[in-house]
Amino acid sequence: MSFLSLIFSAIILTTFCCSSLIVAQQPYEGQAFTDCYNTNTYSKSVLGYSCNGVNKSCQTYLTFRSQPPYNSVSAISAMLASDPSQIAEINSVSETATFETNKLVIVPITCSCSGDFYQLNTSHVVVHGDTYFVIANNTLQGLSTCQAMMNQNTNLTTKELYSGTRLSVPLRCACPTKNQTDVGTKYLLSYIIAQGDYVSKISARFDSDTGRTLEANGLSEQVSTIYPFTTLLVPLQNPPSSSQTIEPPSSSPSPPAPPSTSSNNSTKKWVYAFVGALGGGAFVLVIGIIIFCTFFRRSRGTKGVNSIIVSESFEALEKPLEKKEEKGSQDFLEALSGIVQSLKVYKFEELQRATDDFNSTYLIKGSVYRGNFNGDLAAIKKMNGDVSTEINLLNKTSHSNLICLSGVCFHDGHWYLIYEYAVNGPLSDWIYYSNNEGKFLNWTQRIQILLDVASGLNYLHSFTTPPHVHKDIKSSNILLDSDFRGKIASLGLARSTEAPEGEVPLTNHIVGTIGYMAPEYMENGLISTKLDVYAFGALMLEILTGKEVAVLYEENRQLSDVLNSVLNDEDGHQSLRHFIDPSMQWSYPPELALFVIRLIHGCLNKNPAARPAMEEMVQFLSRTMSNSLSWELSSNISGDQGTEGFLDGRETRTGSQSTT
Ligand SMILES: *[C@@H]1O[C@H](CO)[C@@H](O)[C@H](O)[C@H]1NC(C)=O
Ligand SMILES: *[C@@H]1O[C@H](CO)[C@@H](O)[C@H](O)[C@H]1NC(C)=O
Ligand SMILES: *[C@@H]1O[C@H](CO)[C@@H](O)[C@H](O)[C@H]1NC(C)=O
Ligand SMILES: *[C@@H]1O[C@H](CO)[C@@H](O)[C@H](O)[C@H]1NC(C)=O
Ligand SMILES: *[C@@H]1O[C@H](CO)[C@@H](O)[C@H](O)[C@H]1NC(C)=O
Repeated sequence: MSFLSLIFSAIILTTFCCSSLIVAQQPYEGQAFTDCYNTNTYSKSVLGYSCNGVNKSCQTYLTFRSQPPYNSVSAISAMLASDPSQIAEINSVSETATFETNKLVIVPITCSCSGDFYQLNTSHVVVHGDTYFVIANNTLQGLSTCQAMMNQNTNLTTKELYSGTRLSVPLRCACPTKNQTDVGTKYLLSYIIAQGDYVSKISARFDSDTGRTLEANGLSEQVSTIYPFTTLLVPLQNPPSSSQTIEPPSSSPSPPAPPSTSSNNSTKKWVYAFVGALGGGAFVLVIGIIIFCTFFRRSRGTKGVNSIIVSESFEALEKPLEKKEEKGSQDFLEALSGIVQSLKVYKFEELQRATDDFNSTYLIKGSVYRGNFNGDLAAIKKMNGDVSTEINLLNKTSHSNLICLSGVCFHDGHWYLIYEYAVNGPLSDWIYYSNNEGKFLNWTQRIQILLDVASGLNYLHSFTTPPHVHKDIKSSNILLDSDFRGKIASLGLARSTEAPEGEVPLTNHIVGTIGYMAPEYMENGLISTKLDVYAFGALMLEILTGKEVAVLYEENRQLSDVLNSVLNDEDGHQSLRHFIDPSMQWSYPPELALFVIRLIHGCLNKNPAARPAMEEMVQFLSRTMSNSLSWELSSNISGDQGTEGFLDGRETRTGSQSTT
């Protein structure tokens, strides 16, 4: 521990004596990571990189090599506590993308000091065969160490790991020291060393200087041996780019690349500044729209406005607005659309043209119309009252599993929101076997949709600030695109989970759908992300049984009772046949079905705290999905054996419905 105290005194000294003092950089962990129980090896940075940087927190990057089941944007973002849209952007892929095995993926993260060490906390749910070493080395590829994980999970009573235990996992990251920022280093990339890597090769790949990389890791030309599945800090002046994820040809050792040209750097900088400004613009827009929507409503004299956003200073603005109401709103919206191009402001005439003047043949359901904008389809939803929540949320979120809002229109006191069009309509049209009009989803499609919904919810819960609860998850609010991928719609009831400091977020205004509403919400109006987890459990139940939750709810005292027959049965397979949607014709993997039923059981727990987090559900369902794909493959090869009763000629697992 003497080393630590040395670093510590160095930090204290620098804070007192300012710049010129030399700050220790991060020593390379070496082979110590393999020796989980020998505390003598703790002397290196095996517990984490010490908190010696200029800032206590910074934006930085990790690398990860895609490995099933952690081979998609959603699975990697869930495992490494990163924002899926940022992963997609920096790797130049879509948010639904799956990476080929062993592809290097860049993962943007926020790294912060936690006591003596920099780290990013994530969590891992123990599966069969896990040890601290296996999790750190094999699953996380060295982004954590067994020592650091044991150090952080001292609250566990034994060193034995049991399946289902949730571990807190510190990921290795660091922020630049004074010495490093002085020479222009902005980021320290936590790069996972691969077989055949050496320091100059890694440095060249990321346009970094070999000398500085060695220095950053306490290595030197003489002592530069590095090991696979350990992290090397690579000092970067600019964020890494997707071109650097392409494996360089494995030729003979090449000299470090010449320092990158400054013109190139400065263009990049401009791009980032521009992107930043755009982001800022979006934020202004969101605030603008909330304010606008709120006092606009007031100006129309609607009763019962209870918004907290309107402050006195805005009251003064009401009068002038009232006079040129319609015109004012149009100008306002057009001004906004200039700032953020993603949200188009439509003229009402355009909507009329797209829907043949709201002709009933264009009506989808309720007040939702299908619009044809020169061949591009969109859904148009007419809304009254407060649309600020939905615009606000959808505009600042961007996730492939949330329906995308593409435009707005205001006409004659009504709002029209224009959304991306989901060709296959609501999930509710597909899953109830008593009235699905011959529409059918196979097992894998069902699991994929569940994974999609879980990913979308995880995004709302973990990656919006403040976190949001959807509050109205149900089958009719999940839309299916042409590939049968699920998208969450109707964010009109969504709200932030935050309450004024020290208060429990509560509501006395219970809204939602019977069967999907969690008991604590119906009884006490308690609001948390666990409401969505309960509703998601109900949705999973519907997808598996093909029955409407409202019916199941009436038949059973508690929704979770529906599961008892399967869970309490010695031979679960027999009861499964009665449980699973008969239209699946027994074509499902029974082990995975039982696993999903156990997940449902967890989600429907009466105690909200005992329900899993959406993040865990994403992990579980990613695994279920990859196992389902293997099952599908093997049962296709074996000529559909084991799909007894499968005779009515419906194409289930091949043909146009299967996802590609
Ligand atoms: C800090 O920077 C100086 C030169 O600016 C260099 O001589 C010194 O070795 C650096 N310290 C460390 C620990 O890398
Ligand atoms: C440290 O924080 C300041 C203020 O937030 C920021 O301007 C600066 O770029 C940060 N430095 C690094 C190296 O991240
Ligand atoms: C990470 O988790 C540990 C233990 O749960 C906690 O003490 C620490 O403050 C967390 N650190 C960060 C940066 O969130
Ligand atoms: C660490 O994990 C990798 C990848 O799974 C594996 O090949 C390697 O053998 C592991 N290292 C040790 C020391 O077990
Ligand atoms: C141990 O602490 C971690 C992080 O604070 C937490 O996630 C986990 O649930 C705790 N485990 C037990 C058994 O208390």
